[in-house]
Amino acid sequence: MNDLLDTTTTAGTSTPTDAIGTSAAQLRSAELEKRIRHEPGRFRVLTGDRPTGPLHLGHYFGTLHNRVRLQDLGVEGFLIIADYQVLTDRDVAERLVEYVEGLVLDYLAIGIDPDRTTIFTHSAIPALNQLLLPFLSLVSVAELNRNPTVKDEIAHSRQAAVSGLMFTYPAHQAADILFCKGNLVPVGQDQLPHVELTRSIARRFNDRYPTDGRPVFPVPDALLSAAPLLLGTDGTKMSKSRGNAIPLGASADETARLIRAARTDADRHITYDPVARPGVAGLVLLAALCQGRDPHEVAEEIGAAGAAALKRTVTEAVNEFLAPIRARRAEFARDPEQVRRVLRAGNERANAVADETLREVRTAMRSMY
Ligand code: TRP
Repeated sequence: MNDLLDTTTTAGTSTPTDAIGTSAAQLRSAELEKRIRHEPGRFRVLTGDRPTGPLHLGHYFGTLHNRVRLQDLGVEGFLIIADYQVLTDRDVAERLVEYVEGLVLDYLAIGIDPDRTTIFTHSAIPALNQLLLPFLSLVSVAELNRNPTVKDEIAHSRQAAVSGLMFTYPAHQAADILFCKGNLVPVGQDQLPHVELTRSIARRFNDRYPTDGRPVFPVPDALLSAAPLLLGTDGTKMSKSRGNAIPLGASADETARLIRAARTDADRHITYDPVARPGVAGLVLLAALCQGRDPHEVAEEIGAAGAAALKRTVTEAVNEFLAPIRARRAEFARDPEQVRRVLRAGNERANAVADETLREVRTAMRSMY
């Protein structure tokens, strides 16, 4: 979701960004932050993840903590587990149930409260999926073809052919957002083209199918998180598919092992220089984020003690930071029935909301027979 932190899970995705679009989005986000603090009740957040593996620290600092923050500010949340999206760049969704349940565990562990945030899977919401049909009629093939994030995903896909689902998934994502009339979408830069398409679809639907009263759809805003670049243990973007990530649910020993194997460089003196020394800087930043400190200060403190000392500091910082999250995760994991209950309740609520929206859509389209 953030172009700096891999929350999409496509192998090797380098993210297309548009400097002008991004800075406009950043300004808009700052303005939105103010309005959210004043009137959290006017917003409904929709965001989500593809269930392709366990969530990691890159996700946490990139977007997860932001979701919890918005929830705790009093914004109503919808959290989609995008199981159909898994099929955009692969033929079969393997280990899907395990990954879906793992995501629910991760969400609960970091403080998502299922009473305030509806957690659901989109394959379980027929009316959401039906919205895709009128939405597809509102977008052109050229428009779908231009989407820079999809282009990038196609370029990095290991698939021989581009599926229709890959090509159209941004319109499907518009249905994810609009089915619940979400008006706030906290995402990273790589998702901005999808939110832009969602805005076009909402406007075009409202124009083409006017109602007597309020238009059917809000025009949602993206909310960019101010996440810093978080690198994986090999000095490149932290990503599930690169095997360089530290999962939230990893044990303290696994974490120590991952960090011990991290790539550093030959310069013994530790500094924080993300451009010249990405490996070392990545580790420093990880410790700094976990301790809520400035990375320059962390680097200075280690200084001449070298990479081994740095790795010890990072391991301790990460393990200390994740200890309460892991404890909660383990507690929830002991009761698998609870995870299923959370999903069942979330799906039930999402279905009620989707049914109502589809009814409004069909009324506006005059197709209520
Ligand atoms: N495309 C998002 C990702 O890869 C996941 C997602 C699906 C999503 N539907 C969404 C994000 C709707 C925001 C809004 O991470």
